Amino acid sequence: MPPDERLVSEQFPRASAYHPDWVLANASGGANSLWLTEWLSAALDLRAGMRVLDLGCGRASSSIFLRREFGVQVWATDLWFSAAENLERIRDAGVGDGVFPLHADARSLPFAPGFFDAIVCIDAFMYFATGDLYLNYLAQFVKPGGAIAIGGAGLVREIEGELPEHLRAWWTQGLWSLHSAAWWRRHWERTGIVHVERADTMPDGWKLWLDWHRAVAPDNATEIEAVTQDQGRFLGYVRVVGRRRGETKLDEHCWPDNLRTLVPPQYARKPLLRGQEPPAVENGGADLLMVETNPPATGSR
Ligand SMILES: C[S@@+](CC[C@H](N)C(=O)[O-])C[C@H]1O[C@@H](n2cnc3c(N)ncnc32)[C@H](O)[C@@H]1O
Repeated sequence: MPPDERLVSEQFPRASAYHPDWVLANASGGANSLWLTEWLSAALDLRAGMRVLDLGCGRASSSIFLRREFGVQVWATDLWFSAAENLERIRDAGVGDGVFPLHADARSLPFAPGFFDAIVCIDAFMYFATGDLYLNYLAQFVKPGGAIAIGGAGLVREIEGELPEHLRAWWTQGLWSLHSAAWWRRHWERTGIVHVERADTMPDGWKLWLDWHRAVAPDNATEIEAVTQDQGRFLGYVRVVGRRRGETKLDEHCWPDNLRTLVPPQYARKPLLRGQEPPAVENGGADLLMVETNPPATGSR
């Protein structure tokens, strides 16, 4: 039998080791999440034991990959795909000890402030995160100095004016949320919430977009035709990595849920056992800082 060359890419040696049947069976979107995760993780400093939020993880292939390849602990969080199904997939992949599936909306996350060392999002940010206030919301969940990193389908350059003719048959309203690396850099950097370390476009990403589509959805002629016609003029894969700046104060009233402003956190450190000192302050004291900076619940803008 000749070797199965499907989805093999020199650019992505780690992803190429995964069985194409597994990758295809666990696809949850229009991109190869393992390629994108390998590309994104090359711009991160992932170390074993780190706590990582995989936001919009779909069928959790990226979460399994991150656990297996880097030894990080992953909270595999998604809205449309079942956490029960993901748990089976995670266990079968042998990483049940370090990948934790959750069903949650990215706009109402059930985590404590500063819990994560890094947040990654593969090909999902455009569904919920283009709003001006979303970064302020999400940043609270990562420690100061931690990364917020996104990789996915996007634009090589912004579409100014009319939609190009060759994209019209494929375009839908939802695609207006696709943006370029330069757009994301400006969107994030001007807030001061993160320092943007990386904002770039995958070289020849459109070719990989086509390779993936021919493998996973060969009947999707409209998209294949649009990407083929485009030749990387507008469509491609975009990667952005920002690092949370601890000194920037986040706005509480921008959060979609107001639990924290109604019931401010009041944790006071005490020794756990007799004869012990109180625990040392972690995370540069980011969580305690939040107590001090909470605006009054009735505060106006
Ligand atoms: C194109 S799929 C990508 C999935 C996966 N990351 C991958 O690369 O295969 C987009 C994902 O975004 C998730 N998503 C969309 N809106 C969301 C929201 N508000 N909260 C959490 N996840 C959301 C969907 O559930 C879906 O799995």
